Amino acid sequence: MKVLGIAGSPRRGGNTDLLLDEVLRGAVSRGAEVKTVVLNDLKITPCQHCDACLETGRCRIEEDMQMIYHELEQADRVVLASPIQFMGPTAQMKAMIDRCQALWARKYVLKKAPLDNRRERKGLFIAVGALKIASLFEPTLTIIKTLFRVIDIAYAGEILFYGIDEKGAIAEHPETLRQAFRAGQELVADC
Ligand SMILES: Cc1cc2nc3c(=O)[nH]c(=O)nc-3n(C[C@H](O)[C@H](O)[C@H](O)COP(=O)(O)O)c2cc1C
Repeated sequence: MKVLGIAGSPRRGGNTDLLLDEVLRGAVSRGAEVKTVVLNDLKITPCQHCDACLETGRCRIEEDMQMIYHELEQADRVVLASPIQFMGPTAQMKAMIDRCQALWARKYVLKKAPLDNRRERKGLFIAVGALKIASLFEPTLTIIKTLFRVIDIAYAGEILFYGIDEKGAIAEHPETLRQAFRAGQELVADC
């Protein structure tokens, strides 16, 4: 059971990082092997819409996104974590999502599995934002659910927390951290 955590915040040790760590700790407590990639440390070029992937099912840009495609192949569970920025995911996260166009092409143009289909993948989403408005997470949830659906990752739920802005302020909400830990346990429970 391999769990891939994808950290989308530029702020190391920030709110989404802390929640992601708890989810992964929960997964480890149930015997899972976990790995975190920090998008801000990687070079992930925005999609150039060159359409090469429509022919090959592969992206021709040779940088760190190739490693992410590999990690997605290897993962049984994927946990995406992003703060809300201008009502969407971070640019780091959106660049990675857009590069999954190559997987879209595999599935819808080349009629192949987007990822090795011997695994039944599930995905969880973590987001934090500063504002307290009902619609805060809606645009981002639409994007994340679309990604998971396109790459055949079953949506396993989300951990959303609003009204949090200062770096690390989520640590003052131990019940949310416990919720994240339990979500990590549940994510790997049926494997
Ligand atoms: C560029 C930028 C844009 C932001 N836009 C929003 C926003 O649209 N809505 C919101 O509620 N918070 C917004 N925030 C606040 C962050 O979501 C908030 O500080 C969050 O706790 C950061 O999480 P992190 O510590 O994991 O990076 C923004 C922050 C930055 C830096």
